Amino acid sequence: MLKGKTIIIGLSGGIAVYKACDIIRKLKKQGAEVWVVMTPAAQKFISPLTFRALSENPVITDLFDEKQNNLPVPHIALRNKADLVLVAPATANILGKAANGIADNVLSTLLLSIKCPLVFAPAMNPVMWENKAVQSNLLRLKKNGAKIIYPEKGAVVCGDEGEGRLAEISTIIENVNNILNSKSDLEGVNILITAGATREAIDPIRFISNRSSGKMGYALASCAKTRGANVTLISGPGSLKPPSNVKFVQVVTAQEMHEAVNEHRDRAQVIIMTAAIADYRPRITFMQKLQKRSDSLNLELIKTIDVLDELGKSKNGTYLVGFAAESTNLIENGKEKMQKKNLDLIIINDVSAFEEDHSEVIILDRSGKIEPLPRQEKALIADTILDKIKNTKFASSL
Ligand code: CTP
Repeated sequence: MLKGKTIIIGLSGGIAVYKACDIIRKLKKQGAEVWVVMTPAAQKFISPLTFRALSENPVITDLFDEKQNNLPVPHIALRNKADLVLVAPATANILGKAANGIADNVLSTLLLSIKCPLVFAPAMNPVMWENKAVQSNLLRLKKNGAKIIYPEKGAVVCGDEGEGRLAEISTIIENVNNILNSKSDLEGVNILITAGATREAIDPIRFISNRSSGKMGYALASCAKTRGANVTLISGPGSLKPPSNVKFVQVVTAQEMHEAVNEHRDRAQVIIMTAAIADYRPRITFMQKLQKRSDSLNLELIKTIDVLDELGKSKNGTYLVGFAAESTNLIENGKEKMQKKNLDLIIINDVSAFEEDHSEVIILDRSGKIEPLPRQEKALIADTILDKIKNTKFASSL
């Protein structure tokens, strides 16, 4: 999703600088070209060599050493390349310099020279973060048009607790994507997405579920939001953080998923069902914990409602997308589900990729077109699925 974009990562001197390794890896994976600029303090934590290897570009550490970086005027050469500058981690020091126009090292000088979007992801001790000088510098930076990705609460390395931990890497990457891919080709479209596995209780502590992580649904929600859609995400339990600015509805059971979908379906122009909803649930949920009293235990399971099947029976113009989890006869099973559930599009899903960040899918549409996508990140698959929806459902209206 970042193909053709050049991102400059500014590293200032805090312990969180090691997290920049992962940020660079993820940005590169999404196709971005990455250049790294380090302050002298950042170099005390990690050697520039690490970032040279990860970014596959020279690391800029000095304004004046021509031999080192092969760029005669580094801050201007980088400015001309950059689509976005991300300072992560941003210390109190670099925030203060950028807010007050101080240019005394290669990074602070670059920050005064750029015209592209500027993003800070601060990380520091919670007491420093709360300091009035730091907060007023942040306000000034925001007023001048910089974007701040706020730090999170938690324990920091020096033992203090509070706000100051660098934001989650996924949040940083999502923000970068939102800024750089602000194509708004789904502006105002109402999309309902379901994600994750449901849980069907056996007793107060045991349940039947499956391995679906929800990653595909969350990637679709994030991508649709970035492209301007109004997104409602209904999700089974899990550890994923919902993307910002989507309407998030948490459910647990297939029945709750059914009720939530019914509550939100009328407003949706597109419904994408990635959720791995349980097909069966225990007929009886025991009120107390089951005791281990015999060598075998029979559980009677009864069918749950097929939410997508119900949606297909009264579509009223809603564009319906299903996901088929298959391990054999992929195309035949996918086609059969598309017909039976009256879908407009079905994505045949590799069941072995349920918990992975990558997957390999096949897209089938009503015209009989079969599009296998090569194995790739779920975020990229999400973008292609949304392209397909846009080109079929909204070809004339958007
Ligand atoms: N689905 C649903 N309600 C269910 C089960 C599935 O809405 N109780 C939806 C899923 O969200 C998915 C589609 O139906 O979009 C296909 O789900 P899948 O598990 O592949 O197939 P099933 O219809 O459940 O059939 P089977 O398990 O026999 O393959």
